[in-house]
Order: sequence, then C-alpha cells, then structure tokens
Amino acid sequence: MVMSLSWLENLISAVLSQVNTVTVALTVFVTVYVLVSFYQKRREFANIPPGPKPWPVVGNFGGFLVPAFIRRRFGQQSEDSRDKNPLVSLTELANVYGNVYSLFVGSQLVVVLNGYEVVRDALSNHRKVFSDRPDVPTINIMTKRKGIVFAPYGPVWTVQRTFCHTKLRNVGLGKLSLEPCIQQGLAIIKTELLRLNEESGGSGVDLAPLISNSVSNVICSLILGQRFHHEDHEFRTIVDLMARGLEICVSSPAVLINIFPQLYHLPYGVFKELRQVERDITVFLKRIIAMHQETLDPEKPRDLTDMYLIEILSQEADGKKDSSFTEDYLFYIIGDLFIAGTDTTANSVLWILLYMVLHPDIQDKVQTEIDEVLGPHRAPSYTDKGSLRFTEATIMEVQRLTTVVPLAIPHMASATAEFRGYTIPKGTVVLPNLWSVHRDPTVWDDPDSFNPTRFLDSEGKLLRKECFIPFGIGHRKCMGEQLAKMELFLTVTSLLQAFKFRLPEGTPPPPLHGRFGLTLAPFPYTVCVSLRR
Ligand code: HEM
Repeated sequence: MVMSLSWLENLISAVLSQVNTVTVALTVFVTVYVLVSFYQKRREFANIPPGPKPWPVVGNFGGFLVPAFIRRRFGQQSEDSRDKNPLVSLTELANVYGNVYSLFVGSQLVVVLNGYEVVRDALSNHRKVFSDRPDVPTINIMTKRKGIVFAPYGPVWTVQRTFCHTKLRNVGLGKLSLEPCIQQGLAIIKTELLRLNEESGGSGVDLAPLISNSVSNVICSLILGQRFHHEDHEFRTIVDLMARGLEICVSSPAVLINIFPQLYHLPYGVFKELRQVERDITVFLKRIIAMHQETLDPEKPRDLTDMYLIEILSQEADGKKDSSFTEDYLFYIIGDLFIAGTDTTANSVLWILLYMVLHPDIQDKVQTEIDEVLGPHRAPSYTDKGSLRFTEATIMEVQRLTTVVPLAIPHMASATAEFRGYTIPKGTVVLPNLWSVHRDPTVWDDPDSFNPTRFLDSEGKLLRKECFIPFGIGHRKCMGEQLAKMELFLTVTSLLQAFKFRLPEGTPPPPLHGRFGLTLAPFPYTVCVSLRR
C-alpha cells in the first residue's frame, strides 16, 4: 500500500512538472508572439503623432489592470488625482506632445485633437476622411454599427440620418409647434419641485430625475408618441440604465473589452452589469415597437416609429430587397435618439442651474431680464430668444465651460490621411477634444472664468463665436441641435422665472469638474427653491 502511494505521488509530480513545463513554454511563446507583433505593428505606425509611451499589449490604459490602492502606493495616482477631471489630463498632454497626439488602447491607435484650430481643420477641411465611427469591440457589441450615432460614414448613414431628421421635423423637431409639449413637462416639474421642496424640510431637492424625465419625455413624444410619469418605475430604470451603460463603456475597466473582447462575457463586475443593461434596454424598446406594429394606421402616423414602419412597408411593396429600412435598424435608431437626446440635454440644464446657484449675482441678472421681457406670468416662447440676450449668453457660457459631450462621439479615419505633417492610418480612432476647444487660451480670454458677457457685444447683442462648438462641427454634427437649444432655452427661462434657486443651508457645493462618461454630468447636488411671486 505504501509502495503504491509513493508510485502515485511520483506520477502526479511527473505530470505536474510536465504541465508546468508546457505552461511555462506556452506562456513564453504567447508573450514573445504578442510582443513581436506589438512592436511590428508599432513599426507600421511610422510618422504617427507623438504621444506617451504605451505598455506592450495594453497600450496607455494598462493602469486599469492595476488596483487603485497599488497605483496610489507607487505614486501613479495621488489622492487628489481622483478629484481631477480626466479632460484636464487629456488636455495637459497636448502641452507635452502638441495639439495632435497619439495614445494606444491595446494596439488600437487613438489620435486626440486639441484646440480650436486643429479640431476645425480636421472636421471641416478633412471631414470626408475623419467622419467615420470606430470599428471597436465595445461599440460593435452595443450598437452592431447600426442606427445613426455609431453607423459607419456612408450611404446607409446618409439615408437613415436624412430620413429621421426630415420626419422628426415633420413631427415638430426645432419648430414652435413643439412648445406645448415642452411646456407640459415644465408645468409638471414646477409643481413637483414645489411639493418635494416642502417635503424636504430644507435639505434640498435632487433636480436630476425631474429634469431628465421632462427632457426624455420630449424625445419620447417625438419618436414613441408617448409620455411617461417621472415616478414610472420601469421608465426611470431605463433612463438610468442608459446613463449607466454609457458610463461603463467609457470610463470603467470595461474599456479593456477593446483589448480583450472575451472579457465581455465575464460573469461578474461591470462586464456582467453591461450585458444586463443591454438586455433590459432591448426588452423595453422591442416591446414598444411591437405595440406600434399592432396599432399602426398607415394613414395616420403618430410619431417617428410609425413613419419608419410605414417606410419599411413601402420599401417592401416596391420590392427593394437590400433596403436598410428594417425593424432591426429601427430598434437601434430609437435607442440612439433616446440616448443622444436625453442625457446631453438634461445634464446641460443641470449644469446651468448649478452655475446659477453658485453665482447668485448672475441668477439675479437673468431674472431681472426675464421679468422685463416676460413679466411674472407670461410663459416663455422660443420667439423671445432675441430679447432675452443675457439669459441666452448665460446658457452659452455654461455650455462652453462644461462641454457636456467633451470628446464629441469618437470619430475614425476611413482612409490613411496626411494631417498637419503626420500620418493618420486608416482605422485610427480620432477624438476631437471639444472641451479643450472651449478652454483654448488662443481663442478665449481668461478661458477658465465664468463670464456670460463674453457672448455679448458692447450694445448687449449676442455674439456668434465660431469657436463655440458644443454640438460639434462637420458632417457628424449633432442632429438634435435645434431641439436641444429650444429645450434649454425654454426650461431654463421658465424655471428661473418661477423660482429662486439656492444651495441648502450649510451644504458645500459639489466639485465643478463633473463626472466623466460619454457625457459630462455634474456631481449630484440638491437645491432649495422659493417662489418668486
Ligand atoms: C445640449 C444637448 C446636446 C448636445 C450638447 C449635443 C452634442 C452632440 C455632439 C457633440 C455630437 C457629436 C458630434 C461629433 O461626433 O462630431 C452629437 C451627435 C448627435 N446628437 Fe446631439 N447633442 C445634444 C442633444 C441632442 C438631442 C436632443 C438629440 C436628439 C435628436 C441629439 C441627437 C444626436 C445624434 C443623432 C447625433 C449623432 C450624429 C451622427 O453621428 O451623424 N442630440 N451631439
């Protein structure tokens, strides 16, 4: 018995030693292979813009693999760097490497464009080559490269964007006929705000759910012909899930999916959460499309979804077999408009109200102007914009300082291009740093200070500035700009006409650098309101 046991032991250790040898050999082989192909690939990138040295395999984002406490221990992340805006860090890199510099996410080359001159040059003068969207795993997984926002630059994108833009205008986008829909949401916000303010007993009200509900209801009315109550649990969950999905994709270890796509299937952490977010949004949107199909009357389209379903039927009737108008495509378009239209506008309103709370003198000035033009009771209309110039300048100044879509939506070079003396290879992800444009000292005086009058001339008339580009420029410019401007103007004017906003007694203001996802959101804050009349 003793003999047979020692025989077994010998066998196991022999097998283990084999396994170890094989494992070590395999690991060495894989490492050498990966390093060789990494450096080979680097050689292919001759004459690319300069940038910080990337780590092999993981590129410049390897830091995500190292736990935060270790990074702090080795000085890679100071305590207060957690309080630092990553946009400041990205913009500071331009001081070291120039306004066009490179980073690597794994082996994916990313070129960051900084400052007004460079961003305009790329997106206006070279717009044909820099208007594509990235072909990278996180985006492909989430969007299948369909819809509008992440669709490749080409004929399908052109047809789909033009169709949606035209039809959305038919149902009111950017037109005065949409005002009652926006006013309806504002009336609810005002009543709820008063109620919650009283209930809070001075501790303040979180404006985010109210604002985001009112804004998303406008887009919902246009595309889904439906409004939701802000306490509707399912609706709230979906709005939150969309925001969370974006946050995970852009600023969490989930960016590593772009380096190791298999991570997407991991059964824990942000990877699991991302899959759940995707599933929940899919179920919600598919159910709404099915309800539209059941009740569709081709003679009386109620919203964009109906118009799209009618277009599908018409193209089928015409025998167009390779048409891009499909239910599947519609699903991604709805998702796109919902995401693009909700978070961006809601965060802009939240930033503007936060700045009003932090600058009571400017709040007073805006309110004086509103009183002069509208008086206490007349509801604002978009046609008042020309008379409410200081109010408009204030909205623009907050948009400049906060740039809610700070890196635009990532672009991609559709062909190898020569740009400002560098070679940008086909497939490079291009990030226009809009945030840096709005802080560019070569085009703005004292760019970090809050000064609405920079948008007014000596006679108090509004100045249009080319370097003010919160909606981007070029072919991929925001499709909802007119709608967003109208919503911002009506919401801010209407709320400041009705209420005085202030921080609750003894509450410190939130940090002003914001939370960075695909959009830049303010940190949560609460306000106390008092009726002005
Ligand atoms: C204040 C609110 C908003 C801001 C600051 C904003 C800003 C932007 C920016 C910077 C881009 C990317 C431009 C680029 O990639 O170069 C964009 C794209 C887009 N936005 Fe907006 N947006 C806002 C509201 C809206 C609304 C309400 C809609 C709804 C209709 C919308 C729909 C879109 C779409 C569909 C795109 C993708 C365009 C394309 O790829 O062809 N946005 N937006």
